[in-house]
Amino acid sequence: MSSEIRITPSILNADFSRLQEEIEKISPVSDLLHLDIMDNVFVPNFTFDFQKASEIISQSPIPVDSHLMVANVDEIAIQYAEAGSSSVTFHVEAAQNISKTIRSVKQLGARASIALKPGTQIEEYSEFLDLVDMVLIMTVEPGFGGQKFMTDMMKKVSMTKHLIGDRPIWIQVDGGISLETIEIAREAGADTFVAGSAVFNSPEPALMVEKLRALASSH
Ligand code: DX5
Ligand code: ZN
Repeated sequence: MSSEIRITPSILNADFSRLQEEIEKISPVSDLLHLDIMDNVFVPNFTFDFQKASEIISQSPIPVDSHLMVANVDEIAIQYAEAGSSSVTFHVEAAQNISKTIRSVKQLGARASIALKPGTQIEEYSEFLDLVDMVLIMTVEPGFGGQKFMTDMMKKVSMTKHLIGDRPIWIQVDGGISLETIEIAREAGADTFVAGSAVFNSPEPALMVEKLRALASSH
């Protein structure tokens, strides 16, 4: 198993009225900033419009992974790559032309990643493993922070790892990652961990990132 671990805090549960300050708290100890984009169509929640998201991306001290939970994502994914995202993660359920969108994102210099909702099977999308840089296995239904980790998804994480083989593709988990669950996800094969409420509901967000990293690294 690769020893490389990435911790990517989600600002969904951060204080939006002082976002820059919140981001600066975790930046020195985090690998990427996980930016959740919701459109109130693909998921029943809304976060940022494109203008605000572009501002966050350009002001972030660390690279940004934009997790797009939006309908008709193909064009939008390209816009988020153009806006300077280091990584663009889009849902297969929301895309019309997955391979074209992956290629366009990569041509713009960003990493490209496909995300799967809990009900979506990786086997149906294995053809894209020759193109992507990361696969995101959702461990909650997308839409909200603070939900319970779905242990059942670990089978999908293991299957994804198996299908990836020796290709250098990251496996990300998002939803309910905490001190209680990160080791389970690591053991199943995840190497890139999103944590929202665990980090930002903690009195010391940076310390929580370090604790999560230490636990994941012990496996
Ligand atoms: C949920 C988002 C997550 C969310 C995770 O749809 O994609 O990134 O912020 O929050 P926690 O870690 O609280 O489950
Ligand atoms: Zn997310």
